[in-house]
Amino acid sequence: MEDEFKINVEKLKELITDKTKALVLVSPDNPTGNIIDRDTAKAIADLAVDKDFWIVSDEAYRTLIYEGGEHTYIYRYAPDHVISINTFSKDPGIPGWRLGFIYGPSDAIPKLKLAAEEMTYCPPVIAQKFVAAYLRSEVRLKHLRYIIEEYRSRRDAAVKALREYLLSPGSLFQRVQCSYSSTYHVT
Ligand SMILES: Cc1ncc(COP(=O)(O)O)c(C=O)c1O
Repeated sequence: MEDEFKINVEKLKELITDKTKALVLVSPDNPTGNIIDRDTAKAIADLAVDKDFWIVSDEAYRTLIYEGGEHTYIYRYAPDHVISINTFSKDPGIPGWRLGFIYGPSDAIPKLKLAAEEMTYCPPVIAQKFVAAYLRSEVRLKHLRYIIEEYRSRRDAAVKALREYLLSPGSLFQRVQCSYSSTYHVT
């Protein structure tokens, strides 16, 4: 917590043992919103190669970055040690539609595909058709510009409201009231 939930590579090194098989890395992160920078990604990738463990890189929020950062594709630093797991749901706002993709070393992916087939057989057709259209069209780029601004303004409204209204007069609870000038209103 004292590091604002950022990854401390030196501390991470101390936690890796001969039994370590995989490290799950979420960046941009849920729930902290943190993004790992290139140096950290490179250091973690080097560690994975050195100690021979997998990095399972969850990149669900890779397109939702507001300011002061960019998404680092960690597979670039350790292509044989990274399996990236992704959902299509975040930027078009289709949580629950259960459609995503993975990428990684060519000998590992068929095994994961087999496991996915056994568990879900195939993703919903409606989701596949929607995402195929969304990914091909210019609508996505337009929507991304809109939604990043929208989420940023929601974040700013939440931060403002927390700063202003976080002092409830009693009990164990905090009440937050927030509203802002956008298409969405939160109270
Ligand atoms: C970090 C992260 N990865 C993956 C998912 C899965 O997203 P979905 O179930 O919408 O495909 C979520 C959803 O909240 C998430 O926060």
